[in-house]
Amino acid sequence: MSLLIKNIGELFDGEKVIKNTSIYIENGKIVSIGKEGKADEIIDAEGNFVMPGFVDSHTHAIFAGSREFELPWKIEGLSYYEIAERGGGIWYTVKETKKASKEKLKRETEKRLKEMLIHGSTTVEIKSGYGLDKENEIKLLEAVNEIKKSSIIDIIPTFLAHAIPEDMDAESYTDYVINEIIPEVSNKNLAKFCDVFCEKGYFNVEQSKKILEKGKKCGMLPKIHADEFSCIGCSKLAAEIKAVSADHLLMAGKKEIKEMASSNVVATLLPATPFVLNTPYPNAKEMLNAGLTIALATDFNPNCYVQNMQFIVQLACYKMKMPPIEALKASTLNSAKALALKNVGAIREGYKADVIITNVPSHLFIPYKIGINLVKTVIKNGKIVVEDGKIKT
Ligand code: NIG
Ligand code: FE
Repeated sequence: MSLLIKNIGELFDGEKVIKNTSIYIENGKIVSIGKEGKADEIIDAEGNFVMPGFVDSHTHAIFAGSREFELPWKIEGLSYYEIAERGGGIWYTVKETKKASKEKLKRETEKRLKEMLIHGSTTVEIKSGYGLDKENEIKLLEAVNEIKKSSIIDIIPTFLAHAIPEDMDAESYTDYVINEIIPEVSNKNLAKFCDVFCEKGYFNVEQSKKILEKGKKCGMLPKIHADEFSCIGCSKLAAEIKAVSADHLLMAGKKEIKEMASSNVVATLLPATPFVLNTPYPNAKEMLNAGLTIALATDFNPNCYVQNMQFIVQLACYKMKMPPIEALKASTLNSAKALALKNVGAIREGYKADVIITNVPSHLFIPYKIGINLVKTVIKNGKIVVEDGKIKT
């Protein structure tokens, strides 16, 4: 099965822009760029901009219920912590998620993934974390793994130690995570990554370290939610433990940025979170100057109901002053690095043929034209899966 995408006005290959070119695909892989041969199927990009499918490397896309009731509180100026005290926050979603059956969670998540695909995401990481107890965390990860089998999007499952249950203290819950949950997740082979919300009122640095070390022992790669609301030493831990990525980093300063730059930690920035919480954005400029690899992702969760990576690129450019090429690279190639994936996130020979054709003429239009879907066609593993903005049936 071969496919030729011709008449590409501008191509972003994961690193740079190429004008007036074509892509030749065979058996789900990119074969060549700029060489036109005979193909079973030909798509005319009509002079438009083409790029790799978005890699959304940080989501909490499996949950029940919604938290729109928090919005007026956010507008009033209540903090994330105050909202949790009023009955919102993670613990509200945990209650809803515990009540929901695996089937219901699967159905709702599959629907969300379709919306993400239409907006150009071809690889999506999904974290557990709204179950908290063993039974419910396993329920969530089993659901994610079942969805993974049949979904068009490539799914990467992560176990996340997300919050302390209301009837437990942090120390005993950390022990429970280490002794009960992580071994079960590992035995059932349910997650590629182990993640922890390292934050005041959640897991401290020591508890986070214990969790990530146990995860590592059990074959899961470490990730960490770091420096989101306070700077308590999580990015330092990320560097020490050789985390694949440290995520959020809103409060990370010069010192933390240096520490991470000296290791191979990918800095995953999630600008939709400060957007919905009205908090400062991470210092992307400082990170780029320090030579850090930056990835971008949605952080899609009931607090931050964002499924569209185009919006993330827009926020990255306007609010974090990232150059458009850097923002596109961060949301494709670097986001694949944040998931320890090879041969994904770029349009290069031998890479997975995950390609999006837009309805705009150049890469600058992705951050420039805000508020509507700019993705017209999605090609996943060399097959057309979205046509004219709709999933092909
Ligand atoms: O990454 N920071 C921790 N977890 C999520 C939010 C979860 C929630 O509020 O439901 C995040 O932003
Ligand atoms: Fe998160």
